[in-house]
Amino acid sequence: MTDANNKHETVLVVDFGAQYAQLIARRVREARVFSRIVPHSITAEQIKQENPVAIILSGGPKSVHVDGAPTIDPAIYDLGIPILGICYGAQLIAQQLGGTVARSGRGEYGKAKLTTHGSSVLLPEEVADGDDVWMSHFDSITEPPKGFTICVSTPDAPVALMENFDQKIFGVQYHPEVIHTPHGQELLIKFLHHIAGCRADWTMTNLIQESIETIRLQVGNGRAICGLSGGVDSAVAAALVHRAIGDQLVCVFVDTGLMRLGEGEEVVETFERTQGIELIHVKSGEEFFDALAGVTEPEQKRKIIGEKFIRIFENAKQKVSDANFLVQGTLYPDVIESGTGHAAKIKSHHNVGGLPEDIDFDLVEPLRSLFKDEVRVLGSELGLPDEIVWRQPFPGPGLGVRIIGEVTPEAVEILQKADLIVRQEIREAGLEREIWQAFAVLADVRSVGVMGDERTYARPVIIRAVTSEDAMTADWAKLPYELLETMSSRIINEVDGINRVVYDITSKPPGTIEWE
Ligand code: XMP
Repeated sequence: MTDANNKHETVLVVDFGAQYAQLIARRVREARVFSRIVPHSITAEQIKQENPVAIILSGGPKSVHVDGAPTIDPAIYDLGIPILGICYGAQLIAQQLGGTVARSGRGEYGKAKLTTHGSSVLLPEEVADGDDVWMSHFDSITEPPKGFTICVSTPDAPVALMENFDQKIFGVQYHPEVIHTPHGQELLIKFLHHIAGCRADWTMTNLIQESIETIRLQVGNGRAICGLSGGVDSAVAAALVHRAIGDQLVCVFVDTGLMRLGEGEEVVETFERTQGIELIHVKSGEEFFDALAGVTEPEQKRKIIGEKFIRIFENAKQKVSDANFLVQGTLYPDVIESGTGHAAKIKSHHNVGGLPEDIDFDLVEPLRSLFKDEVRVLGSELGLPDEIVWRQPFPGPGLGVRIIGEVTPEAVEILQKADLIVRQEIREAGLEREIWQAFAVLADVRSVGVMGDERTYARPVIIRAVTSEDAMTADWAKLPYELLETMSSRIINEVDGINRVVYDITSKPPGTIEWE
């Protein structure tokens, strides 16, 4: 995927090790320019070989002053390639070119109001004094290097944007790549299109072509296996790998019986019939129900489902004994999440398709640098139906974590019906893409009601609908009352065994999105 054979223009995003580079790379892709992330140990000579159209120095750790703070070969400033430093990257430019980065002792985190100074080539025209920008820094540039002008400042950053137009070197202290900085993307576009003169002709189709080549190179004549969960990520990964290696890919779909109504058939329809992928469909609902009989403790349920899943997947895999590659739909946020060893375990996540550690496979992870919404675009380009591409996140253990108490076939049937109503009504109201997740939960209590002169004593359904950016935090969705009313009356009328519907108005934190 390099520009070594000059297939297309490349922007190099230099990684200083603090999770910013991928988001910047993604914004560059949105500006229709191909980007590649490189480590900060890259030399100016190596950069020259790559012949990039621009270089972006990303954010990084707290301070350029700490021992061992990452740096970059200063000869890059003499290459004549346009350079944009963001946050840490801007401080590094200041420090390396003779400006001053002061330990102010006072950081600036979150929103800050900007003040402009004179004209700027980089700043979008729409930006005005008093606009917000998103800050996250401890040190501040107090003195720009010679030849730079100060174009923007904020209360705690005297040099929030500096530029040296002659040398085409720019530094922004704030984060144009985050959505909280209004016109941030326009700033990046100005840098890429106007200053660096990029053609802006890169598309997802290029990405598909490049991924196909990379997958072919990796797999060669080997055989690959992919566990399908019905979710977007594994679906897109499978479709992409199938494009690359065709019959060398076999998919395994373990139908746990804990999926949403009609989901199993839909997976078979899409993959076997539409995409023509060889599919091993293991219907194993009964096995899961047997293993879950009498179990009510949430973590125990998750553990049982996870272990059973792996065992069944392993068995199915025996049928493809010559497979030496395993395809996984790992996305960039998954890479980050599993990389942060200090995060507290809230719930054990057993991802369908997730595998034991001792497995002897080479991983094929073609979506590793992408974000969810990019994967959706890719899925559509690959011809996957909207039902799969726009599917909301669904937990690996399925409805098993949405049934409080014992998971029985009857409980699953009730929940599947209620869940379908919730999703149908959300779609009908046109809210499907706005809502992160909307689903039903079956509670393990009974309450008294009256239906047609009869006293009832039955279970409630809880409707859960949340908005979220990334599921790390979430807000309960302010659904219109009329919509809630329709859901409620449909559930009561159409689902036997339910006599009450309640709406969960808890955000995350303190709640979680799922109930178990
Ligand atoms: P919580 O309930 O922890 O969920 O707020 C956050 C997001 O993760 C999904 N989720 C899971 N996904 N395997 C998964 O693949 C799991 O075991 C699992 N548990 C929760 C949940 O639907 C939400 O989007």
